[in-house]
This record gives sequence, C-alpha cells and structure tokens, in this order.
Amino acid sequence: MTPLLDAHDLTATFSGPTDGPPVKALRGVSLRVEPGEMVSIVGPSGSGKSTLLYCLSGLHPVTSGTVRLLGRDLSTLRRGQLARLRRGRVGFVFQAYNLIPALTAHENVALPARLARRSLSATDVDRALAQVGLADRGGHRPSALSGGQQQRVAIARVLATGPELVFADEPTGALDTAAGVEVLDLLRETASGARSVVLVTHDVTAAARADRVLVLRDGLVFRELVRPTPDEVFAGITDREKV
Ligand SMILES: Nc1ncnc2c1ncn2[C@@H]1O[C@H](COP(=O)(O)OP(=O)(O)O)[C@@H](O)[C@H]1O
Ligand SMILES: [Mg+2]
Repeated sequence: MTPLLDAHDLTATFSGPTDGPPVKALRGVSLRVEPGEMVSIVGPSGSGKSTLLYCLSGLHPVTSGTVRLLGRDLSTLRRGQLARLRRGRVGFVFQAYNLIPALTAHENVALPARLARRSLSATDVDRALAQVGLADRGGHRPSALSGGQQQRVAIARVLATGPELVFADEPTGALDTAAGVEVLDLLRETASGARSVVLVTHDVTAAARADRVLVLRDGLVFRELVRPTPDEVFAGITDREKV
C-alpha cells in the first residue's frame, strides 16, 4: 500500500531573536501514515508538534528532508500545484475553530467549496452536518453553538470536501472533557478506509485513541508507541531515559 504521507528526515529551523541563535524546531523527523490510520503526535509544549504538522501538510516549508503527501514530493510542487493537491484532499482542523461568525453552520460548511468554485450541493452539506451530529443546527450561527458544536462544524467543513488526510492541531484544546470526547470519537471514526487522521495533542487519553503515537521531544521522535494505553503514553512523555 502506498502511504498517504511519507516524511523523511525533516528539519525546520526558524531564525531566532536578532542576536540569538536559530531555533531548530525539527531536527530529523521521519514518519509514514498509511490509509485508514490514526496517528497521534504528543510531546511537551515547544517540542515541535505544530511545526511538524504544518510541514507535513504543506503549510510550512521544511528546511531539509522530504515530504511525500498523497504520493507527491512537496519540494517539486509550485505554490499553485500544492494548493490544487491540498484542495479537497487534505483537511486541517485547528484549536480555534475559525468559523465565520456572520455565516450559519450550513454556510460555513459550504464555504471552502464555494471559494474553490467546486460544486457541493445543499444535500452534501446536510450530510456532513449529520455526520457530526448537527443535522438540526445548520441554520445556527457559531455564536448560538457551544464550543464542542463549533468544533464539530469545523470538522464537518473538512469532511464535506472528502479529504484523504485530516490534520488536527490540538482540536480539543479549547473544549471541556465531554465535548472533547465527542470530537475525538468523530476523528476516530474519520480514520477508516482510505482516510487517515494525524492528530496533535497534549492529552494522553486523546492520544491513546490512535493506532500509533509518536512522542516528540526537542524536535525529534523520542518514542513510537503502537496502540498504547493512556498510561503508556504518559510514561512515554515523562520518561527521562532514551530507549
Ligand atoms: N514562527 C516561528 N518563529 C520562530 N520560532 C518558532 C516559530 N514557530 C515555532 N517556533 C519555535 O519552534 C519550537 C517548536 O514550536 P511548536 O512547533 O509550536 O511546538 P509545539 O506545537 O510542540 O508546542 C519552539 O521552540 C518555538 O518557539
Ligand atoms: Mg503547538
């Protein structure tokens, strides 16, 4: 099977403060994601989780190393080609739901397709909202929805485009426990068939829902755990010794 995502020896360096050294956010990370898999990335704050997700999804350029996304080497693509590759095939869920306040849930879900001039019928939008359990909330604006519901609209907006890869950066970070569990259930269901999910989180219970967990530390993969329990994820993050 061709992996949906195949990244090799990624580094990402940011320029530091004017008189300081550069910040090496990633120092040689490799990972593969197969169709249908859910992979979590955990690690302390500042370990490079967000940077890794942005590099993997083509939102941020790597300093060195290669990313093959949906079979294409990102370094060989021009900006427009990358945008076309990502459009409809790659989805991104952020901690801040990024919904447009003036638009209803239905209109928010329909927006990306409209902007891309792709057809998405009202029925398709309704189906996406039903998939996230919000069939009866299409007419509501974000301000009339709870945080968990808003995040589910954001996920419906991603699912409506039928992506093969869904990236999520701390998608439960702003939610209470119950709402967080609902969002995770949804992401867990999303990862099946040909569709995969890459989740960044600092919540060990959330991370343990995945098929594999990568523990990042200082820009490197410190551990890789297969179907771990939350306790094993916690131990992986807090262990002082390198295995
Ligand atoms: N735009 C940026 N400019 C400079 N340094 C950055 C930038 N983005 C992230 N960093 C640095 O890179 C490191 C990793 O950050 P990040 O990927 O956001 O970590 P995490 O998501 O695990 O908290 C941190 O030291 C952070 O300060
Ligand atoms: Mg982050």
